[in-house]
Amino acid sequence: METMNTINRRKSVRSYTGEKISESILQIILKAANEAPVGMGKYENVHLTVIENQELLQAINEGAAKMFGQPDMQPLYGAPTYILVSEKPSRDSIGNIEYSNAAIIVHNMALAAVDLGVGTCYIWGATTALGANPALIKQLNLPDGFFPCCGIIVGVTTEQYTVRDFPDNRIETVYLQ
Ligand SMILES: Cc1cc2nc3c(=O)[nH]c(=O)nc-3n(C[C@H](O)[C@H](O)[C@H](O)COP(=O)(O)O)c2cc1C
Repeated sequence: METMNTINRRKSVRSYTGEKISESILQIILKAANEAPVGMGKYENVHLTVIENQELLQAINEGAAKMFGQPDMQPLYGAPTYILVSEKPSRDSIGNIEYSNAAIIVHNMALAAVDLGVGTCYIWGATTALGANPALIKQLNLPDGFFPCCGIIVGVTTEQYTVRDFPDNRIETVYLQ
């Protein structure tokens, strides 16, 4: 797909067959992450974790469902792969630059996933819950000083990415001329 076509067709996919995407597609998605811009070019302060361990995925699901007060919820939607972006803050806590870096990295991966026809969805809620759970953070084996910022799920889906119709003024825009 051309870029604008990919942007138009992208949508949040929340139903997965449970089958993993192929290794070659995963590597292209990770390449898109590596090609993302990062503030001041500080790539040493960002970190990716590809989580496919079923026990850990289930623990992340359960922790998030508990935080949301909905025990039956599956915040990772049964997707077999959760790619987490973690950051090492340059000041004393995670701030705008870290969340912006993470969002851009995640969006690069999401657009790559759409282009390749595999399901994807941004995951902030479960990532926030994960970030508030020291026992789960420990299981991520993150380098010292890194903290989970955001992530996406990817997986095989039966959903299709079709042309979407959007109003031009969905986001109020003011011109100062
Ligand atoms: C910053 C951000 C956080 C999001 N977090 C979640 C999430 O935790 N779980 C989820 O199911 N969708 C999440 N989404 C998806 C949005 O709900 C979705 O993008 C929005 O409703 C528009 O729908 P669309 O992606 O299908 O176009 C998130 C999207 C963004 C941009």
